[in-house]
Amino acid sequence: MFSSSSSDHSSYTWSQAAREGSLFVANSPLSFDSSPSPQAGKGHGHTYHIQGLDGRNIVVQGVKKRFNEALPHGSFGVIKSAVGPNGEDWVRKISWLNPPGDPLKNSGRVEASETAVKVHEKLRGKQGIVPYHGHEKYVNKAGKLKEVIFLDRADCDLKSRLEKIERDPLDQKTQLSLANQLLETLAVSLRGAAHGDLKPENILLKSSKDGLKLWLCDFDFYCESEGPWVKGTLNYLTPEVFFTGKCLNVRKLDVRAAGMILFYIFTNSFDASGKTSPYAFPWMSEKPIDRAAIERMGQAMRNFTPEKIRALLEEKVGDFQVQQLLFGMLQPDCKTRWTIDEAYAYFRMHVLSKLDGQTLVQTRARTRSLS
Ligand SMILES: Nc1ncnc2c1ncn2[C@@H]1O[C@H](COP(=O)(O)OP(=O)(O)OP(=O)(O)O)[C@@H](O)[C@H]1O
Ligand SMILES: [Mg+2]
Repeated sequence: MFSSSSSDHSSYTWSQAAREGSLFVANSPLSFDSSPSPQAGKGHGHTYHIQGLDGRNIVVQGVKKRFNEALPHGSFGVIKSAVGPNGEDWVRKISWLNPPGDPLKNSGRVEASETAVKVHEKLRGKQGIVPYHGHEKYVNKAGKLKEVIFLDRADCDLKSRLEKIERDPLDQKTQLSLANQLLETLAVSLRGAAHGDLKPENILLKSSKDGLKLWLCDFDFYCESEGPWVKGTLNYLTPEVFFTGKCLNVRKLDVRAAGMILFYIFTNSFDASGKTSPYAFPWMSEKPIDRAAIERMGQAMRNFTPEKIRALLEEKVGDFQVQQLLFGMLQPDCKTRWTIDEAYAYFRMHVLSKLDGQTLVQTRARTRSLS
């Protein structure tokens, strides 16, 4: 999402930020998968009383500093460890809302947090959504209103996994499984609604005995209908939102970002820093940017025509069916871009079906990364 600086956690709308020429693209800190797990009964942080799944009250223990340090935070929330009533490995996402009696100051934050809680209640238990256990709102000693939500703890987010992808490429089965889980979650669990801030930082990974699980998190910008849309992360905005500030078709809002994410997964490449190679997506930038830089980004986005998209996919993606899928998902024009349902159906029919009979086709990218 937009924010004015990494230390200031206030949210920015697109028009505000563009007006002030001080857009900054939020960046989560690095991998936290080496951090120690919180242990039940150890460390005494805040104690929370929340309503559990069955409606009964449960006690959740926040875990103090030493377990918190390796957990990253985004622009809105701070993520800290927590221990569930039966010693489960949870996290708490803490958002500071506006101080009582000051309803306007951080109204964006209040709205985002209220949206997130509602969405978690609605999507609770669905496939591909980070397991949610409840929330608590309280006023702290300094008189600040806080909202805390409790979630299962993941091993890392997709961005930190992608940062290692060239040294440690994903095998084809994992590529297909992650793509399947992402598309299925967007098409089935979100069913017609949009996440609204889809990006690798907002996708969590958790290893389990059934393989790597993918969970979406951060539902602050969840959206069910068309209209003004001034939220999101600059690098992953659709062109219609970037240029008009409007969401023209909510079913296509997440599709281009999902296409970019699948491009990284299927080509085993990711370069959000731009240090080692030119960006695959020419408008990508993680540097603080001013009005002129926004103009350049817009120009780069305009120049990324369907012909250029086709050429990029032909060069980088070996598998023809994956090329077709990504071509449909990356279309700059909202009218021609596929819906998530179309993308998911195409993926199941033409890409995943190759798993049958073990006739997997090695993509050029995968072959290259192994050589
Ligand atoms: N359940 C979880 N388990 C482990 N890490 C998590 C979990 N939830 C979030 N994180 C980590 O914390 C980061 C920030 O969380 P989240 O995206 O929910 O907060 P945010 O402040 O709203 O972020 P943003 O600024 O992107 O909107 C995530 O990118 C991820 O790295
Ligand atoms: Mg986030």
